[in-house]
Amino acid sequence: MRMMVLLLFLLISAPVWAKPGDGLILMGPPGSGKGTQSGFLQERYHLKAISPGDLLRAEVQAGSSLGQQAQNYMKSGQLVPDQLILQLVAGQLDQLKPGQGFLLDGFPRTKTQAEKLDHLLLQRHLSVVAVLLFEIEDQVLVERLSGRRICPNCQRSYHVNDNPPQRPGLCDSDSAMLVQRSDDQPQVISKRLEAYHQSTVPVAGYYQERGLVQTLQADQSIEQLKSEIVGLLDSVLQAKIVP
Ligand code: AP5
Repeated sequence: MRMMVLLLFLLISAPVWAKPGDGLILMGPPGSGKGTQSGFLQERYHLKAISPGDLLRAEVQAGSSLGQQAQNYMKSGQLVPDQLILQLVAGQLDQLKPGQGFLLDGFPRTKTQAEKLDHLLLQRHLSVVAVLLFEIEDQVLVERLSGRRICPNCQRSYHVNDNPPQRPGLCDSDSAMLVQRSDDQPQVISKRLEAYHQSTVPVAGYYQERGLVQTLQADQSIEQLKSEIVGLLDSVLQAKIVP
């Protein structure tokens, strides 16, 4: 009997994902907290996280041809050409394990990327279950990005005041020395914000028309945002499971 109760409790409390091959999109301006929440969501729902920003930084660090083509755009705060990004994302989608859900962090950022993503998903029998749109004032973002430090190994992100590591300057996960991203400089931050307003805001409209967008006020604490997202997602997922 005690075993039955325990099993029932585990079934009720365990987070369930909608169905195999379903995915999430995290959309929002630079510094709005997409990467921070992505780390948490991929663990909670066992999703494969696909972040073109992280992938591009790894390519730049490795000195690959793709990295060399991308780095000047990144350094100056511009979007990397669609064709390079789509190539990266398609490769990642092909690595999904059978039945695994996925999370797209910072993709798509242009209308072309959104349209091409539809094709990539269709070809692979995958679909998007929700788009989480992080909304926040630009002024807050400048402060957040200036104080951000990242782990060069695992890409985990911290903030010197709001989200510090347990030991100053060292990553909690692998003890690597934290660094500042080269595009987290004030002039580059304003270019990145410009690119967001110009090219990515219209993409939110693309998904709004399909009723997929869940808007979040991102100017709240990391923990508050986490629980708001879990509440939202659990109801979206529940609605998909219950006939
Ligand atoms: P990318 O790496 O994707 O950068 P981004 O979108 O500009 O987003 P960030 O990583 O800067 O911010 P975030 O929202 O993840 O915030 P985070 O959680 O770290 O892209 C970099 C570049 O690659 C682009 O500029 C472009 O050149 C290229 N690129 C990438 N994708 C592309 C695409 N699809 N098409 C074309 N080009 C592409 O948080 C920020 C800070 O705030 C941290 O310090 C964190 O600790 C702190 N923080 C987080 N949440 C909170 C909170 N709730 N309260 C207080 N502090 C918080």
